[in-house]
Order: sequence, then C-alpha cells, then structure tokens
Amino acid sequence: MTLWQNRLEGRLDDTVMRFTESLSFDVVLAPYDISCSKAHVKGLATIGILTADEESMLIASLDRVAVEMEQGIFEFKPDDEDIHTAIERRVTELAGDAGSKLHTGRSRNDQVATDLRLYTIDNLTDIVDMLLGLEEVLLKKAIDSADSYMPGYTHLQRAQPIPVAHHFLAHGWALTRDVARILSSIDLMDVSPLGAGALAGSSIALDPNETANLLHFSKLFENSLDAVADRDFVADALYDLAIVGLHLSRIGEETVLWSSNEFGFVTIDDSYATGSSMLPHKKNPDVAELARGKSGRLIGNLTGLLATLKGLPLAYNRDLQEDKQPLFDSVNQLKLALPAMSGMISTMVINQERMAECADSSYVAAIDLAEWLVSRNVPFRTAHGIAASLVRDSITRGVPLLELVEAHPQLGSEATELLSPGTSVNRRVTWGSASPDAVRSQLERFRAKLESDRARLEDIRKLRA
Ligand code: ARG
Repeated sequence: MTLWQNRLEGRLDDTVMRFTESLSFDVVLAPYDISCSKAHVKGLATIGILTADEESMLIASLDRVAVEMEQGIFEFKPDDEDIHTAIERRVTELAGDAGSKLHTGRSRNDQVATDLRLYTIDNLTDIVDMLLGLEEVLLKKAIDSADSYMPGYTHLQRAQPIPVAHHFLAHGWALTRDVARILSSIDLMDVSPLGAGALAGSSIALDPNETANLLHFSKLFENSLDAVADRDFVADALYDLAIVGLHLSRIGEETVLWSSNEFGFVTIDDSYATGSSMLPHKKNPDVAELARGKSGRLIGNLTGLLATLKGLPLAYNRDLQEDKQPLFDSVNQLKLALPAMSGMISTMVINQERMAECADSSYVAAIDLAEWLVSRNVPFRTAHGIAASLVRDSITRGVPLLELVEAHPQLGSEATELLSPGTSVNRRVTWGSASPDAVRSQLERFRAKLESDRARLEDIRKLRA
C-alpha cells in the first residue's frame, strides 16, 4: 500500500518501484526519522491536534520501531518505498487511528530534509573526532622525531633540510583546517526545515520553532520553498569530505614513496601492510594507496551531486533523492580511512639515519651559502649566482662543493662550516620556519589548537545530546 493509494489507480509497476525506491540505502536515516517524528508528534500535541493519549501512543510506537530497527527485527514490506514510508506504516499498525494522524501538516519533503541534516551533523561530528585523532597521531610523531631531520622537497627534488617534526606538523595543520571547515559547515547547516510542509507550509498552526528546539537545531528556516529545496548542506559536507580525502591522499602518496626501497624513509608496520599473492618478498603499502585512490571517489561524489542539483526548479524534485548515496558513501569511506591511516602512521618506523643522510647532501646548503654572503653585504642575486655556479662547477668538474667553497675568495673556510651535516637545518630564524626552535613553539601552538578544537567538539556534542 503506497501513501498515495487513493489518488492513483492500480498497482505501481515493479520496474517503477525498483527504480524509484530509496529504502535500500535510506534505512540509515531511521534513527533520525524517528527523532524527527517524535518532535513532530510533540508539536501536534502542543497545538491540540493530538490528545495526550494519542501523543503517548505515538511516542511509544515510535520507540518500539526504534527498538525493532536496532534489533534488526523490523519487518519491511514490499510497498515500503523509503524509510519514511516504512516507519509511518509500522507506526500506524502499532498505534491504529493515532498512527494515521502522524503525518498531519508534514510532508516527506520537509521530513527528509530534516532527517538528512540530522544525519549529516551527527556524522560530521564523528569525522571531526577522527580527524582530531589523526592530528594527535601526527603530533606524537612530531614529538617522537625529536631533533631528527630530513630533506624538504620542492618539485620532489631535495630543496632544504627540515626537522622531521616540521613535515608531520605540516600535514597536521592541513587537518586543523578540515576541522574548522567542517565545524563552520555544521554551523551553516544547523537549520531546521521541519514545518515547511511539501513546499508552502500548512493551514494547521504548527510551531516549527518548537520542533526545531526539540531536535536541537539552533536556527529555523526562513522560507518554506528554500527549506525543502536546499541541499547546499550536502554539497558543503561533500566538499569538506573531499578535501579531507585529498589531504589523506597526499599523506598516502608520500607514504608510498617513503616506504619504497628507493627512499627508505619509513618502514610500515606489518599489521598495516599487505603481501603479494605471487611475489613472495613483497610488502605493499595498500592503506596508503587506497587513501590516495579513494580520494577520487570522494571528489566524484561531490561533483556528481553538484550536477544533480544544477538546474532543478524549486522546490522539491525527486532528483533530490540522489543526494543520499554520495553523502553516505563519502562518510562511510572516511570513517574507514581515518582510523586505518591513523594506525598506519602511528605504527610506522621513521628511519632517521636514512633521512639525515639524504638531507646532508652538501648541495641543499647552497641557499645557506647565498644567505651567508648576503649577511656580508653581497646583493642576493649576486650571492645566488655565486652559489649556483659553485654547484654547477662541482657537478660538471666532479669536485666536492666543500673544496670549491674553501677556495672561493668571498667564501673560504668559515663558509665551509655551512656544509657540515646538521648545520643548515639550524640556521633559520623566521616565524613558522623549519628551525628546531621555531618548530618547538609551533608544536606547542599545534597542541593548543588541538585541545581547543576538542573542547569545541565536546560543546557541540553536549548541545545536541
Ligand atoms: N525518498 C525521498 C527522498 O529521498 C523522500 C521524499 C519523497 N518526496 C516526494 N515528494 N516523493 O527524497
């Protein structure tokens, strides 16, 4: 039995049901749909549409449905085209006449928009929690790497030596922006659409403010058409999640490179690596590769939704049902990826000697030679030219750079100090730079940021509990 059985004649063709149903994926909205219906029931009771008995009957039935869903004993029927239909059908079975009043003044259009906002806020807060977990791992890695250093790269060519901690914290700061972005999206999507009806509100004097409060929304829709048509919040979430995916992908790519024999910078723990079905010696960085690979899928989920939304007339159109699978998929994938990446990073061994050896190539100190000359009043462009010619000479003539620096009239033995292992990395003096001192204070700022973001997350959770 469909919700519109009295309007259309005959049974819905099976192909239509299979094509249009959403129950197979929107079943995850069940707990949010139940909360939404409970708030609506309370609202209907407040304005006298439901008697106190009917109200308690409906609340008890909704609670029962929640239990049946949780225990996996809820019986779905062939005509349950979506989770809203299934729940209303079951509540009507349980509550009789009172059940048939549940949908008064409401449409699945405002209902699904409400459910989906609740789902999104809830799941984004979970993802923030996981991001903070990964930030914690990166912080710990930065602390544990103490004074070790590595080559910093541009164009994937060795550029300047940097503390290993600086590199880990760089990824960490990117994640702090993910957290900030998600928290600001949550703030923007924290608007209740319930009470907008199908598109124009209702002649029944519902109080959308009351239901908004009951559902812990801090704001209420301003325009009923916009309330049911708006899926910006899904696009915002998908963008935020795509950027998280992109950050994980960049860490993944580096891990793939770093764990190769060619780099040898890190050793992935066996519990986070996989073997080969054919080549007995292989140890593969599949977690890192899938973090990289799945980011394509997260981007696809965003662009797919944007294409769906573009060109839709106001207000609700069934196309909007296509908002769910990309959202659920991006959420699910990141809920798998974040703990796996956290574990992989926290357990991987940093091969400090190998990193230092690569960072101690004398050529990466070329900028220090140039800046040393600048401190002796040589214009930078001239200084750059001198250092560059020395590097070129060293390479083409096969003479160690040290000898050429020593012999140079403007450099000499004092300047050769700059080429000794571990010197260059200590020479930076600027804010946020890769000097060990600057990294130590940066690390404290990162720790403080992590703590304040944790406190913000707790506040949001408390408000919504
Ligand atoms: N399953 C639908 C969706 O996800 C629920 C809303 C249906 N509304 C309607 N007017 N057919 O969008």
